[in-house]
Amino acid sequence: MKLPDNFRKWPTERRQAWWSKNFHDDDDERAASLTNPAALELADLMVESAVGSLGLPLGLAGGFLIDGCDYSLPLAVEEPSVIAAAAYAARIIASGGGFSTTVGPSVMEGYVYLEQVDEAGASRLAGGYEALRRSLKSTLAGLERRGGGLCGLRQYRLQDSGVLALELAIDVVDAMGANIVNSAAEALRPLAETLSGGRALLCILSNATPQRRAQAAFRLPLAKLYPYCRGLDAADVARRIVLATVVADEDPARAVTHNKGVMNGIAALAQATLNDTRAVEAAAHAWAARSGRLRSLTAYRVETDCLCGSIDLPLALATVGGSVDLHPTGRACLRLLGNPDSRQLSRLAAALGLAQNFAALLALVSGGIQGGHMRLHAARLAYKAGARGELTRRIADRLAARGEFSLRAAAEELAALRDAAAAGAGSSA
Ligand code: MEV
Repeated sequence: MKLPDNFRKWPTERRQAWWSKNFHDDDDERAASLTNPAALELADLMVESAVGSLGLPLGLAGGFLIDGCDYSLPLAVEEPSVIAAAAYAARIIASGGGFSTTVGPSVMEGYVYLEQVDEAGASRLAGGYEALRRSLKSTLAGLERRGGGLCGLRQYRLQDSGVLALELAIDVVDAMGANIVNSAAEALRPLAETLSGGRALLCILSNATPQRRAQAAFRLPLAKLYPYCRGLDAADVARRIVLATVVADEDPARAVTHNKGVMNGIAALAQATLNDTRAVEAAAHAWAARSGRLRSLTAYRVETDCLCGSIDLPLALATVGGSVDLHPTGRACLRLLGNPDSRQLSRLAAALGLAQNFAALLALVSGGIQGGHMRLHAARLAYKAGARGELTRRIADRLAARGEFSLRAAAEELAALRDAAAAGAGSSA
């Protein structure tokens, strides 16, 4: 499909009208899909060629006890089990005392990659760090007023390409940091080229953020785990959770899914707070693969009749800048969390990632996840079959009772309920 000429320059309302007319089948679809004028204006500010905004479900996962405080976490996600699993795990872990968390500095790295630099040029560059620092003064002045700024310069040679990497580390405080780090890297370019005698190839941040990490841990007495073990022995369930994590550490095929589950909640929290979900995901998976093999982001052990879980991962989550403090939903989500700073938000995200992983492992090693997942999926089947309102839940319940989760079964149940309603209306007429 080719867009009409100059589509991106059309007024937003015209773009939405075109979108509505050409790609929506009926008024029902339009009612569920189209965007009100205020949200459309915001969408137009945020992206080019906006035609609307996607109403992803936003839900609250309650029951988190983190560093002694109660939290409900806002999650925006399309997968039905994510919020249910997070809240379920949060409740279990709170019964044992909750999560404790730690967090590193909000330091991001940026790079000026220089080509055609010989050894003498590399030495001149190394000798020019003070001048390079001074050249960043005006770019970083605002950030320094907020307590951040440049905290390191170093360089290294890439062996295969011969390119010289000049790394700048910047404390970005509460921002995600992409804009300020990219601006600083570009501001260094002229002096870095003059000093080294080389030519800048790229000036860009790295999303790896290995310093900007958060950790969370919990300690759950086996007696507190037992009620959630579906009648199995809690010590054996705990042992199997530990073994499942060893498997994820050993087999990258399992680590991918294990870590995907960790990121289910974190990405949803990032989405709800209008953070850059791709950056958060990229950093986490790169960190998990830092040994050269993809491994688990979480660790478990059994110690003195307790299951102990922990997580450690990079989390570049912002509470200011970008879309975070622009979008009213993002602002409301941050208010719900008590207006945390970036480091506090990262602590909460680390606890959430661990909770999500614990919920998945607990279900997987004690009977599987599909029973729960399909019950959650049933309402979607009912909706797809044409049910609306209260009928959707009733059909979902009937599918769960039948133990049959298919569109055909949902259509049958819908027809049966409609027939029953028509018969009732006929007999009372
Ligand atoms: C599903 O979104 C996530 C899980 O597959 C995670 C896991 O397998 O650990 C349940």
